Amino acid sequence: MADYRDYNKANWDERVPVHVASPDYHVEQFLADPSYLSGVVRFDLPRLGDVSGLRGVHLQCHIGTDTVSLARLGARMSALDFSAPAIEHARSLAGRLGLSLDAHVADVYDAVRVLGAASYDFVYTGIGALCWLPDIERWASVVAGLLKPGGRLFLREGHPMLASLEPGTDYAEVRYPYFEVPEPVVWEGGGTYVETDLELRTTTTHEWNHGLGQVISAVQQAGLTFDSLSEHDSAPLERAPRADDRGCDR
Ligand SMILES: C[S@@+](CC[C@H](N)C(=O)[O-])C[C@H]1O[C@@H](n2cnc3c(N)ncnc32)[C@H](O)[C@@H]1O
Repeated sequence: MADYRDYNKANWDERVPVHVASPDYHVEQFLADPSYLSGVVRFDLPRLGDVSGLRGVHLQCHIGTDTVSLARLGARMSALDFSAPAIEHARSLAGRLGLSLDAHVADVYDAVRVLGAASYDFVYTGIGALCWLPDIERWASVVAGLLKPGGRLFLREGHPMLASLEPGTDYAEVRYPYFEVPEPVVWEGGGTYVETDLELRTTTTHEWNHGLGQVISAVQQAGLTFDSLSEHDSAPLERAPRADDRGCDR
């Protein structure tokens, strides 16, 4: 019987060529301009700290645009995603940019076994990653397992409140769970969040929300200490109101 991973992986595998070709992921700019960074990492810069010379791992790296941006900031990057086409593109992009990247196809819950325990100075995870995972505490223990003593987690996510609201209704209706619950929200839809004319064939996805407090508690219970927390009024997600007019630009 298919489980959530089978549905989600098929959907993400299909999104890869669509996203690589989309102007929203700016692959051409990465190739044309050696100083170009993804919109996500550019936004993160004031909070990211100096990553130069650090050993970092990007969990759920997708097609690698944020990962190579971190490598361009001087980090020695590993990356992991369960989508083989995504990792293939991340490797190929890094190669074309002359950057070294240690990239792995694996489920995020297997990351410590695949990448090695206590191996990284920082773990990075970006927009639209946690919603694919049913258990935030399990994820936090993976993150803690990957970090060297004194290592850092940098987590940037869409606000969980956003995922609980019904888009297109002035965001007035809380329609989906805010807190993590065992059952996924099952979506049926043909699209993706970037500018494209293509329709996806694998349209079923399984997602979970994790309340802000649940994420913080999970990370603390895994043994990490909080340095800072910022709440933003915008996110490059299709569900977000276009507060900063950045849309889904990545
Ligand atoms: C929206 S992308 C996040 C990356 C980044 N924000 C970006 O836009 O490039 C979500 C990624 O999570 C990956 N993913 C989803 N579930 C996963 C799992 N269980 N293990 C590993 N990767 C997973 C997908 O393949 C996809 O590449």
